[in-house]
Amino acid sequence: MKALILSGGHGTRLRPLTYSQQKQLIPVANKPVLFYAIEDVIEAGIRDIGIIVGPNKEQVIETVRSVDWDADIEFIYQGDPLGLAHAILVAEEFLDDEEFVMYLGDNILRDGIIEHAQKFKELNPDSLILLTQVDEPQRFGVAEFDENGRVKRLIEKPKVPPSNYALVGVYFFKPIIIEACKNIKPSWRNELEITDAIQWLIDNGYRVETSIVTGWWKDTGKPEDILEANRLVLDDIEPKNEGKLENSRIIGRVIIEEGAMIRDSVVKGPCVIGKNSQVVNAYIGPYTSIGNNCVIEGTEIEDSVIMDGSVIINAGRIVESLIGRNVKIIEANSKPKGCRFVVGDNSNIVL
Ligand code: DAU
Repeated sequence: MKALILSGGHGTRLRPLTYSQQKQLIPVANKPVLFYAIEDVIEAGIRDIGIIVGPNKEQVIETVRSVDWDADIEFIYQGDPLGLAHAILVAEEFLDDEEFVMYLGDNILRDGIIEHAQKFKELNPDSLILLTQVDEPQRFGVAEFDENGRVKRLIEKPKVPPSNYALVGVYFFKPIIIEACKNIKPSWRNELEITDAIQWLIDNGYRVETSIVTGWWKDTGKPEDILEANRLVLDDIEPKNEGKLENSRIIGRVIIEEGAMIRDSVVKGPCVIGKNSQVVNAYIGPYTSIGNNCVIEGTEIEDSVIMDGSVIINAGRIVESLIGRNVKIIEANSKPKGCRFVVGDNSNIVL
């Protein structure tokens, strides 16, 4: 079986971060979201992986190649994100008439995909789709069932959802899906929707089975989703200390990476402090990920993601924040007093 992981798209709901960073590379617990998908696929025994890349393809290729994966990884250029079914068509040559799992590169599943891959093998359907119950089905593709509990309809982002079972971004397919993708028309958002392609399978008598995801699942489409995914992943970490501690207190499960220095501070897990970062006279509270090469001084940070190279000095108390790479937040000692901002388009500041 092959795997097709999607790492294209514009990530507009995560602006301004996605002006400079492809959304699947945003870190959750200091690891790009995309790596969770690659790891799950490899864990399920798949060694032939195609990654769909789009606007920031060089970034994705470079980041993925920085790791020595136990798999053959090929990059497939999609160009404009014309839909999930379009991505499959672009990958037709790579897929080479074999069955495959399609994994959306911005999804994280706590328990991976092994169980679902086995179910696909056992039931041997034309497609196996993963479903889970959600609070806001209108944000996702939603399944409607017949009286026997079989899926009869899939609707993309319905205003009035027929159930609260959302489509998780992992789909198993036989090659017939290619024909389905060729037979559908673009939707109102001008995309070739995977939900329409699966609907084509159902309508043409092909067998579509379902598998329910019971552990947590997160689609990291919006800033609050990244923070929530960060909390969920940090909840499962094993503590480790490869850094240096001076006059500091570590409470709970904390990962301190190589070269990090914690001085005169309190760090309360679960949290992770990245490589070569310095935490001085600070409080780092639960559910915080501090990236590599950061400086946090005289500041309290809780429930936040701070990305590589950011410097935060005497900034008071920061909560529920998503801070990009190489950001500076520093107390001004000069006159006139007041906050000074150089903030990118579509930033969001709550004082
Ligand atoms: O996360 C689950 C949901 O994913 C499903 O419930 C929906 O049925 C499905 O359509 C999809 O909805 P989204 O609106 O969240 O899809 P999004 O546009 O965010 O794209 C999902 C991923 O695929 C994302 O990592 C970007 C990538 N992508 C997207 C498109 C449209 C591509 O690589 N190429 C594309 O053309």
